[in-house]
Amino acid sequence: MHEQIDHILLTQEQIQNRVGELAAQLSRDYEGKNPIFVGVLKGVVMFFSDIVRGFTDPCQIDFMWLSSYAGCESSGDVKVVQGLSQDIRGRHIVILEDIFDTGNSLSYTYNYLQSLEPASLEICTFLDKPERRNPGVTLKPKYVGYVIPNEFVVGYGLDYNEYFRNLPYIGVLKQEVYQN
Ligand code: IMP
Ligand code: MG
Repeated sequence: MHEQIDHILLTQEQIQNRVGELAAQLSRDYEGKNPIFVGVLKGVVMFFSDIVRGFTDPCQIDFMWLSSYAGCESSGDVKVVQGLSQDIRGRHIVILEDIFDTGNSLSYTYNYLQSLEPASLEICTFLDKPERRNPGVTLKPKYVGYVIPNEFVVGYGLDYNEYFRNLPYIGVLKQEVYQN
């Protein structure tokens, strides 16, 4: 375990198993629908590549890059840094996200993509931290990997100041790391 990690919340094996289940469920639900998986960068990269590789039917991929976080705190002010590369009108879209936290960025992404008139639009998030939800957010992801407690987590794509994304597990940072 990395010296700055207090404890592991989800092991590599737990992640693999759950992500495999989600990919199988998506493969059943989107069979013959030629979906586009839209990843919200950068935290989703590991989850994204695992889900897409587990999807057994033809599909396409695209990415959006939002920015709203500095350190541990959401600024609440979401910006699109990079939009989609293709027209999604009339297509079946699955948004893939690393974590549903305050819900601000996913709400923004959802409304933005909905305005482009897809045939359907669903959310698949690896983690859900319901205790942190902004009360104004009513959105509910259809697919959720794990519901987790209100702790700041890193690994499997999730970062603290752009570090720890490469950890193969989900871990909770030692408090001293973000107190310094
Ligand atoms: P939101 O608060 O739901 O808008 O989440 C915005 C983004 O903040 C997520 O997509 C993550 O990239 C990041 N984020 C939220 N909670 C955590 C966390 O516990 N660790 C690392 N990143 C987080
Ligand atoms: Mg993210």
